[in-house]
Amino acid sequence: MSSAFSHPSPISRLRADVQGMHAYAIQPSAGFIKLDAMENHHRLPLELQRALGERLGALAINRYPATRIDDLKAALARHAQVPQGCSLMLGNGSDELISLLALAVAKPLGASVALGEPATILAPVPGFVMYAMSAQFQALPFVGVDLLPNFELDVPAMLAAIAKHRPAVTYLACPNNPTANLWPAKDVDAVIAACAEAGGICVIDEAYTPFACESYANRMTQHSHVLVMRTMSKFGLAGVRIGYMFGPSALVDQIDKLRPPYNISVLNAECAIFALEHEPIYAEQAKTIRADRAALMQGLQQIVNLQAFPSQANMILVRVSGESTEPHGNADAAFAHLKSQKILVKNVSRIHPLLHNCLRLTVGSAEENAAMLAALARLPNP
Ligand SMILES: Cc1ncc(COP(=O)(O)O)c(C=O)c1O
Repeated sequence: MSSAFSHPSPISRLRADVQGMHAYAIQPSAGFIKLDAMENHHRLPLELQRALGERLGALAINRYPATRIDDLKAALARHAQVPQGCSLMLGNGSDELISLLALAVAKPLGASVALGEPATILAPVPGFVMYAMSAQFQALPFVGVDLLPNFELDVPAMLAAIAKHRPAVTYLACPNNPTANLWPAKDVDAVIAACAEAGGICVIDEAYTPFACESYANRMTQHSHVLVMRTMSKFGLAGVRIGYMFGPSALVDQIDKLRPPYNISVLNAECAIFALEHEPIYAEQAKTIRADRAALMQGLQQIVNLQAFPSQANMILVRVSGESTEPHGNADAAFAHLKSQKILVKNVSRIHPLLHNCLRLTVGSAEENAAMLAALARLPNP
C-alpha cells in the first residue's frame, strides 16, 4: 500500500460535486410498522411463496440473463397494453431508467445553449427526488417549477419555464410523489404540448397507476416525444426492482443502448413474470389498498390538528398544526411521536417550503392504518 504522505489521495480524483453530495438516506425500520416508502404491505400467499421458490431454485443462475428477459418484456407489454410501433425497456427499478435518461441527454458542455446544451432536466417541485438527483449525477442543470400551494400544477409557470430553459427532459409524475395528487388531463396535455414546442422529451411517470382513477399513458401513441415510465414496486414487488419505460420505438431504442446489458437478474425477471401470471391477486390487493386509503382519509379528517390532502396514490400527505413556533416543529413532533409508537412515516417538511409541517403517510393494512390513526389522535400539543 502506498504511503498516505507521499501520494495525493485517490479521493481527489473524484468529482468535487460528488464529494460534496449526501448519500440517499434509508431510515432503519426493523421493529417498526413501516409506512414510509409506499410499499404494498401484502406478502405473497404461502402456497405461491412455495411455487415461486421452486421456480427460482430451478433457474440457471450460472448463466447470464437471456431470453427470459424478453418473456418479461412481452408480459409487461401485454399488462400495460403497449401498442404496436412502441418499444418497452427495463430498468433495475425506475430509478435506473431515470438515471439512464439523464445519461442519454448529457451532451458535452460548451456548445450553444440554443441547441439545448447543457441539457436541462425540468420537473414540478416538490416532486420525486430522483429527477433532480439524476441531473446532479450528470452535472446537468435541474429546473424545479413550484407547484401551487394546493399542489396543483402551475401551468403558466411550467410553460414559461419550458419555453425559457428548453429542457431535454421534463418529468410529470402522475400521480405525484410526495403530494399524492393527480393533475388534470388538460394541465398534463398543456405541458406535453410545450415540451413538443421546445423539442424536448416528456416523461409521464405512472409509478402509482394501480391506485389512480386515470392513466395518461395513451399520450405516447399521440406524440413522438412522450415516454411512459412505470414500476412494479408499488404493484407489490418493491424488493424485486423492476421498472419499465415505453413509448415510440425510435426514441426508446436509442435510450436502451445505454442500459447495462444484464441489468435485470434472472431471479428478478422470474419473480416479475410469476407476479404477472397472478395479476388478479395484485389487482385485488390494489383494490383493497384503495378502499383502505378511503378509510384512512376519513380517519385523518377527524383529527383536528391534521390537514389531509387528496390522494390518488398509496400515500396521503398531511399537514400538522400545533403549538410549535419552530418552522418544522409540528411535523417533527408528530414524526417523533409516531416513531416512539414504533410507526415509521416520512417527514417531508424540509424537502420544500410548500411542504412545511408535512408528513407523508403510506397506506398500510387496515390494522397498521388504525394504529397510525390512534397514534396521530394522541399527538402532543394538539
Ligand atoms: C414517482 C416515482 N417514480 C419512480 C419511483 C421509483 O420507483 P422504483 O422503485 O421502480 O425505483 C418512485 C419511488 O418512490 C416514485 O415515487
